[in-house]
Amino acid sequence: MRSYTLIAPAKINLYLEIIGDRADGYHELVMILQSIDLADQIELHSIDSETIRVHCDHPQVPTDKSNLAYRAAELMATQFPEAFRKYGGVEITVNKHIPVAAGLAGGSTNAAAVLVGIDLLWNLGLTQSELEELGASLGSDVPFCVAGGTAIATGRGEQLSPLPSLDTIYIVLAKYRSLEVSTAWAYKTYRQQFGNTYIRNTEDLAARAAAVHSGGIVKAIFDKDTAEIAQKLHNDLERVVLPAYPQVLHLREVFANQAGVLGTMMSGSGPTVFALVESFQQAEAVKLNITEAISSEDLELFVTRMTTHGIQIVSSV
Ligand code: C5P
Repeated sequence: MRSYTLIAPAKINLYLEIIGDRADGYHELVMILQSIDLADQIELHSIDSETIRVHCDHPQVPTDKSNLAYRAAELMATQFPEAFRKYGGVEITVNKHIPVAAGLAGGSTNAAAVLVGIDLLWNLGLTQSELEELGASLGSDVPFCVAGGTAIATGRGEQLSPLPSLDTIYIVLAKYRSLEVSTAWAYKTYRQQFGNTYIRNTEDLAARAAAVHSGGIVKAIFDKDTAEIAQKLHNDLERVVLPAYPQVLHLREVFANQAGVLGTMMSGSGPTVFALVESFQQAEAVKLNITEAISSEDLELFVTRMTTHGIQIVSSV
């Protein structure tokens, strides 16, 4: 029997622009995705029977086929049936630290870890791009979670071009435990309200993506200019999520008024709000101030920082 332990980092969106819709029901996006130190730990064990089992220490996380980690293992079993028969099944244990249904790609990064872990467990020798391609069939954020670091993502979010690494910027994250935003709802509502502004011509879509590539936030990332990155944070989904969730809007305002906060934004489809700050000390001070200002048992806060890596192997037995 063999086993692997992996670290699966969460992500935040430094930039999310919705530029069009697609025949497959998804949206054409230009995003800048950033891995952060807040991470789940995933253990994978080979087991005798040809089955997939998932365990998780978080009561809200399902352990059946609705869990993306389960579906990642199932995908590997279908794609590589001989290896599945040879090495047997797999038992997956998820130790959750990333808030659930938060806009932080918690489910996607668990799935990415399962792809990377099973590749090792079954000696498949897949390349990173093969793993990313498998990941894309599970969810739009899974390829980025395999790669990690800082990247521009286009298409439905699965086409990645790496950007220079940012690993010195501290972040404070806040999420109401009881609040969940459906990603499908956020995109559908955006389409209903702003679909008339979508670009529908392929050349213009490419031109818009290219404009972001050469735009202000990307330049700020190349310059490693934290204050400028913070000024250029953007997320189109705030236009539908903030009006519908006053608590998130309030959180966003409280963050914006804190000393030491360089910029604040909602991540993905929310409801997590994050702020970029200059130092660890400032991040701790912001966390304390927000805890006092909002004083709710339901609010969870984290101090974390940007990281350069995606899925990492921490041990193998
Ligand atoms: O790809 P993923 O399963 O994470 O997406 C969740 C939902 O978000 C999709 O079902 C779709 O409604 C919406 N979505 C979208 N366009 C994207 C990514 C996600 O409309 N590029």
